[in-house]
Amino acid sequence: MRAPGTPTIRLTIARSPHELATLAADAVVEALPGDRAPVLGVATGSSPSGVYVELARRQAAGEIDLRDASAFALDEYVGLPDGDPHSYRAVVDEQVVVPLGLDPARVHVPHGSAADLAAEAASYERRISEAGGVDVQILGIGRNGHIAFNEPGSALDSRTREAELAPETIADNARFFDNPDQVPRRCVTQGVGTILDARRIVLVAQGEAKADALAHALEDAVSPAWPATALQQHADVIVIVDEAAASSLTPEARAAAGVGIR
Ligand code: GLP
Repeated sequence: MRAPGTPTIRLTIARSPHELATLAADAVVEALPGDRAPVLGVATGSSPSGVYVELARRQAAGEIDLRDASAFALDEYVGLPDGDPHSYRAVVDEQVVVPLGLDPARVHVPHGSAADLAAEAASYERRISEAGGVDVQILGIGRNGHIAFNEPGSALDSRTREAELAPETIADNARFFDNPDQVPRRCVTQGVGTILDARRIVLVAQGEAKADALAHALEDAVSPAWPATALQQHADVIVIVDEAAASSLTPEARAAAGVGIR
């Protein structure tokens, strides 16, 4: 048993957005299998976007080649028409598929406009298994400690399913829409259990709004009240945050953290 408050998760506090993206890309690249096409887990949100830019830069420089990778997104809104620019499918296409030159047929996003969402969720789980599981999952964290759209109260062994967004999430994501009433109320999300099946998880978080959630995630006992605490149960989690997101950590947690190395 680990002593309370002892981080088992590797935490680095980056000194700049560039360093954060660089360290996160390093953590992704290190987890790529050498002998077969990789399976990436991709998150939407503002925190991971710099990581995709850095991966694309490395690919353009010939340092890596992800063009034969498959990818699975974490989640999707329910209720947006196919092709809606606010959909996570559109975000993943723009931030991941195009810059990395992936084959769109190998990039999976839950189909939020499916007539039968339970069947879509079951098929999503099946597609992840058939791909051999996710090698490395890039992850963000919500202000309320959600991972993907697993809001507080989500079962820590949950699988891909239809779920409801929390009021804080609707408020936070309203910035992407013209009007808060347009933010969908429901989603299809990978479960906490689905996310924990990834072989490595790289969590990125930036900004003071994430400080509280990050402190709970790393320092609280594991509980559905803060779904990100479930990451403590995974053997290979790398957390890379900026100073603002780290600002509510206890001195003990900060002392155990590496500080940017570039
Ligand atoms: C959305 C996504 C989450 C993401 C969160 C934080 O709610 N569904 O997967 O972690 O936003 O995003 P950001 O990095 O923009 O703060």
